[in-house]
Amino acid sequence: MIQFSHVTKTYEDNWKALSDVTCRIHKGEFVFLTGHSGAGKSTLLKMVYMDERPDEDRGGQIMVKFTPDSVYDSKTTKDSSIQQLRRQMGIVFQDFKLLGDRNVFENVALALRIVGTRAKDIRPMVYEALALVGISQKRLSMPYTLSGGEQQRVAIARAMVHNPYLLLADEPTGNLDPDNAKEVFSIFKEINARGTTIVMATHNPDFYLNSPFRRLTLSHGTLLNRDIL
Ligand SMILES: Nc1ncnc2c1ncn2[C@@H]1O[C@H](COP(=O)(O)OP(=O)(O)OP(=O)(O)O)[C@@H](O)[C@H]1O
Ligand SMILES: [Mg+2]
Repeated sequence: MIQFSHVTKTYEDNWKALSDVTCRIHKGEFVFLTGHSGAGKSTLLKMVYMDERPDEDRGGQIMVKFTPDSVYDSKTTKDSSIQQLRRQMGIVFQDFKLLGDRNVFENVALALRIVGTRAKDIRPMVYEALALVGISQKRLSMPYTLSGGEQQRVAIARAMVHNPYLLLADEPTGNLDPDNAKEVFSIFKEINARGTTIVMATHNPDFYLNSPFRRLTLSHGTLLNRDIL
């Protein structure tokens, strides 16, 4: 599903954020991404949704393959195709990023309107996503009236309402108290059990130390897992 081959990323100021990263994430997997602050976790995720690209002169490459007909190669994907790539995934951030001037229903529905879902399908799909994250009763609320945990559930509903192949989560529980963090993790496990591949960057050892899922660890831009391929 995702293949990193010798990916190096140097930011404009000459800071090398990733160094020769090679790894593979399989379809249906739940993978943790761990490592100290500044290790390169967010950079690695940005590479998957092609907000950043590998250094061209180092020959690194990322392949994202959703289906045999839907393959994105960092070397050949045009900027104009990136929206299409992102429509097949969901992304959840630490700071929720909800639209403040739209209610919960509209925040989630927008993700379907963008991908061209038929109008009559939108309501049932939004209701199902809100039910999965346990927030149906708040569907007409504005984001600023919600707690952090509630806002993150809405953000997760928005990220998965279109049944993406892949869910990327960058520190999704970083702003939540321990109970809410646990609940959000449970929701991710449920989404994964339904078939969606999940890559989750986290600092929370309660998750990765007590779970069967694989863990990729970065240290100063280098992947410590050398046995993946
Ligand atoms: N746009 C940028 N320009 C220059 N340097 C950057 C940029 N983005 C990130 N970096 C640097 O690259 C390194 C990796 O950053 P990244 O955000 O990927 O780390 P992280 O593992 O996600 O950290 P955290 O756990 O704090 O979120 C850091 O040293 C950071 O300062
Ligand atoms: Mg980060």
